[in-house]
Amino acid sequence: MDGRPFLDAAAGLWCVNVGYGRQELIDAGARQLSELAYYPLTQSHPAAIQLGERLGDLLPHTPHFYFSNSGSEANEVAFKLVRQYWRQQGRPDKVKILSRHRAYHGSTLGALSATGQGERRRDYGPLAPGFIQVAAAYCYRCPFDESAPQAPHQCALDFERRIRMEDPDTVAAIIVEPVVAGGGVLVAPDDYLAQVAGIARKYDVKLIVDEVVTGFGRTGDMFAHVGYGIKPDIVTMAKGLASGYMPIGATAVSEDIFQAFMGDPDSGRHFRHVNTFGGHPVAAAVSLANIDVIEQEELVGRSREQGGILLRQLKEALSGLPWVGDIRGRGLLVGIELVRDRSTKEPVSNPFMRSMARFLIDHGILAGKATDVEASHNNVLMFAPPLIINDDECEILVDTVARGIAEIGAQAL
Ligand SMILES: Cc1ncc(COP(=O)(O)O)c(C=O)c1O
Repeated sequence: MDGRPFLDAAAGLWCVNVGYGRQELIDAGARQLSELAYYPLTQSHPAAIQLGERLGDLLPHTPHFYFSNSGSEANEVAFKLVRQYWRQQGRPDKVKILSRHRAYHGSTLGALSATGQGERRRDYGPLAPGFIQVAAAYCYRCPFDESAPQAPHQCALDFERRIRMEDPDTVAAIIVEPVVAGGGVLVAPDDYLAQVAGIARKYDVKLIVDEVVTGFGRTGDMFAHVGYGIKPDIVTMAKGLASGYMPIGATAVSEDIFQAFMGDPDSGRHFRHVNTFGGHPVAAAVSLANIDVIEQEELVGRSREQGGILLRQLKEALSGLPWVGDIRGRGLLVGIELVRDRSTKEPVSNPFMRSMARFLIDHGILAGKATDVEASHNNVLMFAPPLIINDDECEILVDTVARGIAEIGAQAL
């Protein structure tokens, strides 16, 4: 509003992956508006068909797509699909959805019920029954005091313990973010997701991977789960799909799930789900242009390389500061956990975090911070810049963050 420039190190809400002002995306949207401004997916339209095909090439293991408007809705679709799927397999008791502490899966009541953030859920109960959280893969504060890496990890085994306790015949699905994003950029050990996928397979539980933040290059792979070598049954996505130029979400499903909904329309096996604006032609056209830009400019590889550089620079510049407990990341998704005391790991206060965000804004940087996750434990600064961020911008970012932590830390908030 005042004409001041900012370096948006949060890519809006972690979504403007290709950066702002991309004429290719703007033109694609304008073209689509004049060709076909709207048509619902209760029938179909060319832009959504093309987008489905394009995404299917990227995700051959989950090649069928249900479009919606947001990440929350994409997850709601996943929950409804798995429950109906199991009913149609003659296993009507398989309804429970397991997720993790500190995970974020959305704002609508089902997705909020899967969200493992106590503060965020607090005033909205009773939430939907059948959603259960297990331990997060939070290595800096390992809930199991696992000092040496083990195989399998105790946090992965927590899924198994819970499935057995609940009875596998009552569990429909596990949902995980490949890297917990809003809950504090929790990067799990490299073999953790494969262990979770193995447990899901063992107990006939569907695996939903929430790629709403991590999809479209954010963590240095087009989709983070591919980098971790797993094949989920369902993948949800939104933010980076159209880089925030238009709202769109999608739920990708395996052949097995898709086929379970085919056949005689009078059998009741079809998915009874309508979404007026989901897969909007303009959003679909912009998504196609967005994927073109990501591929042509090799932004996925860029995210991996530039993310590695940013992480290294942050570690060099910040590890001497007593308030810095942990610095972690994957690709251009980075978190800095701030503590009052490194030996006790006591989190810094909410006023400390607010002052930090204010300092960064005053110095031209927009960043994210954990909010409403867990009472007195929202102490992670988070960076998810557009994937086009360059060396000079990373340097400005690192330098400003270092000055900010030193200055706010000295005020002992
Ligand atoms: C991992 C994850 N899943 C789902 C969502 C919900 O997406 P939306 O805000 O588009 O509904 C978010 C939003 O931040 C998210 O971070």
